[in-house]
Amino acid sequence: MLDLSGKVAFVAGAGSVAEGWGNGRATAVLLARQGAKVFGTDFNAEALEGTAGAMQEEGHKHWACCKADMTSSDEVKQAVDRCLQRHGRIDILVNNVGGSFPGDPVSLSVEEWDAQMDRNLKTAFLGCKHVLPVMERQFEAEGKGGAIVNVSSIASMSFQVGGRVHIAYAASKAGLETFSRATAIAYVKKGIRVNTVVVGMIDTPLVSHRLTKQLGVASADDLAAKRNALVPMGRTGSAWDIANAVLFLASDEAGYITATKLVVDGGVTAAR
Ligand SMILES: NC(=O)c1ccc[n+]([C@@H]2O[C@H](COP(=O)([O-])OP(=O)(O)OC[C@H]3O[C@@H](n4cnc5c(N)ncnc54)[C@H](O)[C@@H]3O)[C@@H](O)[C@H]2O)c1
Repeated sequence: MLDLSGKVAFVAGAGSVAEGWGNGRATAVLLARQGAKVFGTDFNAEALEGTAGAMQEEGHKHWACCKADMTSSDEVKQAVDRCLQRHGRIDILVNNVGGSFPGDPVSLSVEEWDAQMDRNLKTAFLGCKHVLPVMERQFEAEGKGGAIVNVSSIASMSFQVGGRVHIAYAASKAGLETFSRATAIAYVKKGIRVNTVVVGMIDTPLVSHRLTKQLGVASADDLAAKRNALVPMGRTGSAWDIANAVLFLASDEAGYITATKLVVDGGVTAAR
């Protein structure tokens, strides 16, 4: 079940903003555990080193990576070329790059609006732009296209999770979900599936390190308790909950699933 042997996965945002398991790092390692050869990118070399260390610790010899800013078309193209030189193909693309910045239309600067659109939406566009032709060629040559999984957020539907307004994050992630569905239909006859994992409140290093400071909460434990109380299941999720959802959508077991989204949020959005 969920065997990825013989497949090559390109994971964008494969690092983690701090030590520990971010969604991209957990996804990269889980795909490797399932037999995939994984190529990771991140614009933070240190973040990538952490993932490389985790891969080495578990003995995943087919891991490779390069530093790339996924908002730059040239850098994405170079990373895709390097993946192809190393592994010869790409069967799975995971667009995991993303992150939020608070603000309403008045308080948010124009620069930060653009940066949010770039980080949460353009990165997935560029990943698809450079990987879809590779998958299409594979489909024409051997009848096997590929699977793309984009990583969104419940901020696309729940506009004040944690009590703060993030209009650019909400709009860019909602855009990402529509982008996924539209791309799925554009490529549905070419053996390529495109789906979205909609991420709820997850206890990743991004949250414990950055948000504790941003929200002025006394400690990471205080923040965790506040976030747990917002989830019907009574707890936030882990990066592995997200990695498992990505794995399923990327696997052949999800072969009849495209243009859909899988919400992984412990019931948060349904309870609103
Ligand atoms: N943690 C949560 O609670 C949560 C909730 C909803 C959605 N998400 C989504 O999950 C995804 C991953 O989040 P995470 O919490 O694991 O964060 P993370 O910051 O730990 O991981 C994202 C990685 O992407 C990298 N990155 C950022 N911008 C980049 C760029 N332009 N080019 C290349 N790499 C870049 C970062 O260096 C980092 O290593 C994001 O899309 C985020 O929006 C997370």
